[in-house]
Parts: sequence; structure tokens; C-alpha cells
Amino acid sequence: MSDARTGTADIGVVGLAVMGANIARNLARKGYKVAVYNRSYSRTEKLVDEHGDEGTFIPSEDIADFVASLSRPRVAMILVQAGAGTDAVIEQLAEYMEEGDIIVDCGNAYFKDTIRRERDIQARGLHFVGAGVSGGEEGALEGPSIMPGGTPESYKRLGPMLEEISAHVDGEPCCTYISNDGAGHFVKMVHNGIEYADMQLIAEAYDLLRRGLGDSPAQIADIFESWMDTELNSYLIEITAEVLRQVDAVTGKALVDIVVDAASQKGTGAWTVQTALELGVPVTGIGEATFARGLSSSPVQRGASGPLEGHEQPIKVVDREGFIEQVRQALYASKIVAYSQGFDLIQAGNDEYGWDIKKGDLAKIWRAGCIIRAVFLGDITEAYENNPDLPLLMADEKFASKINACVPAWREIVGLGVASGIPIPAFSSSLSYFDGVRADRLPAALIQGQRDFFGSHTYKRIDMEGTFHTEWSGDRSETRWS
Ligand code: 6PG
Repeated sequence: MSDARTGTADIGVVGLAVMGANIARNLARKGYKVAVYNRSYSRTEKLVDEHGDEGTFIPSEDIADFVASLSRPRVAMILVQAGAGTDAVIEQLAEYMEEGDIIVDCGNAYFKDTIRRERDIQARGLHFVGAGVSGGEEGALEGPSIMPGGTPESYKRLGPMLEEISAHVDGEPCCTYISNDGAGHFVKMVHNGIEYADMQLIAEAYDLLRRGLGDSPAQIADIFESWMDTELNSYLIEITAEVLRQVDAVTGKALVDIVVDAASQKGTGAWTVQTALELGVPVTGIGEATFARGLSSSPVQRGASGPLEGHEQPIKVVDREGFIEQVRQALYASKIVAYSQGFDLIQAGNDEYGWDIKKGDLAKIWRAGCIIRAVFLGDITEAYENNPDLPLLMADEKFASKINACVPAWREIVGLGVASGIPIPAFSSSLSYFDGVRADRLPAALIQGQRDFFGSHTYKRIDMEGTFHTEWSGDRSETRWS
């Protein structure tokens, strides 16, 4: 049953935990009248009490009043926990909304859920927009990076507001229409996968530096801080220095030595890897990062390691500055691989789901506001501006020359990590991927032979067309199957 009343709010926000409250405040500060609703009204009251002077909030105690307080076509942004909670709120809103109204899910939803939700909602005459929002709590308030999918029509109503509250670089908003249905949540998922890879690579660099140099966390913070003056300049490097410098108030020790070494995850990294497997795209950096979190938080596996021997050869650093620079270059090269793989996955998703994602635009809106914001994203933007159909990001002329220059240091550091027993899954798999891409011949030919041997799966030849099978259990003659 729809509510025929028409309100004055430009936009509404449902779910007023920190992210939702900050998005609502951001909108209000930009001059929009913001309808606000939360399941427990006390949170709504708290927002209005504490921040009511920042703009115009229109609070409602129930969802029908909330919908009625919106001007038409109504726009309601949902910021609730992904999953069943999202479905419940969509259902409540849809009950009162009318044709042409727009529901925007700003959570970290799985893109296939978004595709399903959009189909269901569209059948009821409403628009559904899955929008990726990155930047954490601070970003939500000061300007996040926003990746909206859904219909182009809904973007006409929604886009100007989202662009205004997003972060900006050189006057350009970090928000653009991504493509239809689940495209926005798909690219947000890959953004998070890249975030995982970037964080794991930084953690491996920290481990190498700490064990190689024997420095304190605060000294390593200085190293990361100095990397802000290089092409590694990024939000994640900046906060790494801050975390390493933090001293625990209880023990007086470095906080990083007090925190339990078990990394959690809420699912977006695993979805990225799962999707990459479905689409057959290697995202080894993201995969290793996700698995490394899994190993770190597996008490069973880590607790059973007693009988295993490492035979390590500890790193002996003779040239301190040289070693630090080698680690930096290995990190940079591995990072280029991780982003290159992430963009490959976006291309594959684009092709599979019939989207029209412009990778250059995506790199542009990741330059600020989001967790993976970095100077580096400017170079990626430029690479796709030069060639929107670039088949392999790391082979772009500029990136290729940068990565090539890092290769000697990269090999040296991976070798040192392996010899000294420091786990560097993301560093080493990135280098292997780089070598795999470069190889003239891969041992995949042998795998084809093995498959044909035990299962008559056939193989192709380099010198003629068709598929072939060798009679392995007979006279080993070759037959042409097609
Ligand atoms: C962002 C973040 C955000 C979330 C991470 C954390 O872009 O603002 O990615 O969405 O904090 O996804 O994820 P994990 O808990 O899985 O590390």
C-alpha cells in the first residue's frame, strides 16, 4: 500500500550507525534536506541532537512517515548491515514507495544479490541502485568515493547529490555512474579485493624490514613515512606509519606487538576471489592476501606446526639504505601486479554481465575518498586515458618501464624472504605471475599431455589446426578428433 503524502526532503537515509549518520550529515552540510530513519529511534534522536545545527534533518519514528517525508521521485539510501537486514529494509520501503521512486543500497552487498534485488524491485515499478561507497567513517562525512550502478535514469535524479557529497580531485567528483544493475557493487567488491592485496603487501614489507633490519616499529614507521615522498604515496602507507608509531597505553609497548596477529574479514575479499575463479581470471595478489588472513586466524593450523622445521638463513643486511630501497621496489612492483589483476577481473565481469564499465573513469574516482586512494591511481587513470582498451595494465608503457626497473630488487627480496623463512605469499606470487605472463612457453603443455593421458581430454598442436589425442594405452599413435 503506498502513501500518497508528499514531503519536502531531498533524500532520505535509513540506518544511522556511524556510516549512515555521517552520510546524512554530509548531505545536510551540502544544503540538502535529509529525512532520517533508524530502527531504534534513539539513534535518530542522537543524530539530530548532536548535529541538528549542521543542516536540515527530518526525523521519523516509523518507515511510513519516513517515506512520506520525501519529495518525489523519492530517494532513500540504505546503510544497514549487508544481507538479510538489507532485504528486510527494502521490503519495508517498497511497501510505501511509488512508481519511479529509488532505493539505494550503499552497503557492501554481493553483486549477485544486487542483480536479484534490482530485478525484483523493477518488477514493482521502483528503481534499485547498488552503490559502492568507500572511505570508511571519515570518508562518509568528508567525501567518499561512490560507485553507483542501477539504471541511468535513476542516476539523473541521484547522481548530482552523490557527486556533490563525494571527494573531489582537481574539481572532479570521485563518483560516476558505473553501469547497470550490480556493476557498482561489483567494482566495490574488486576495490576491496585490491585493498586486501595492498594491505597484505604492506604487511609483508613491514615483516621483511623488521626482521631484516631488527628495527623497532617506530623506526619502521619512519621508513613508511619516507615512502610518502615516492610513487607509493597512498592512504594505506600513511596509516601504516601511524599504526606502527602507536604506543600501547597499558604496557608502554608498540601497539602492533600487543594486537593479536589474526586478521579478520567480512567477506568482500573472499567474494572477489570466488568471482575471479568463476570467471577464470588470476587475481593471485588478492587470493594470497585473503588466504593469508585465513591462515593468520586459524588456531588449528598454526597450533599444529610444532614438528615443522624451517632451515632458515637469517637475512644479513650490510647496506641498510640499499635493502630498504629494494623492499620498496618489490612492494611497488607487486602492487602494480595486484592492481593490474584487479582491473583484469573488472574487464571480465564487464564482459560476462554485459556492463559498460569504463576502467579509466573508475581509476579516476578511486584517486581520492576511498581506502585505496593513492597517487598511483593518477598513473592508472592516465594509462586508460591513453588506451581505454589496454589489455594488461602492467604492460602499459609507463608501468612496464617502472616495473622492469624494479625486477632486480624484486627477485632479490623474494629470494631473501624465501631463504630466511619470512612468509611473503603476495610478494612471491606476484613475481611468479609476472614471470608467467612473460614466459614464451609455459609448462601447461605438459598438463595438457597429462589430461589427455588419463582422460582423453585432447590437446591442440602448435603446428596445425584441430584437436588431437594420443592412444596412450595403445600404440601411442596420434589421432585427430576434430
Ligand atoms: C571501504 C572499506 C570498507 C570496509 C572494508 C573492511 O572501502 O571503505 O573497504 O568497505 O571497511 O571492506 O573489510 P574487512 O572487514 O573484510 O577487512
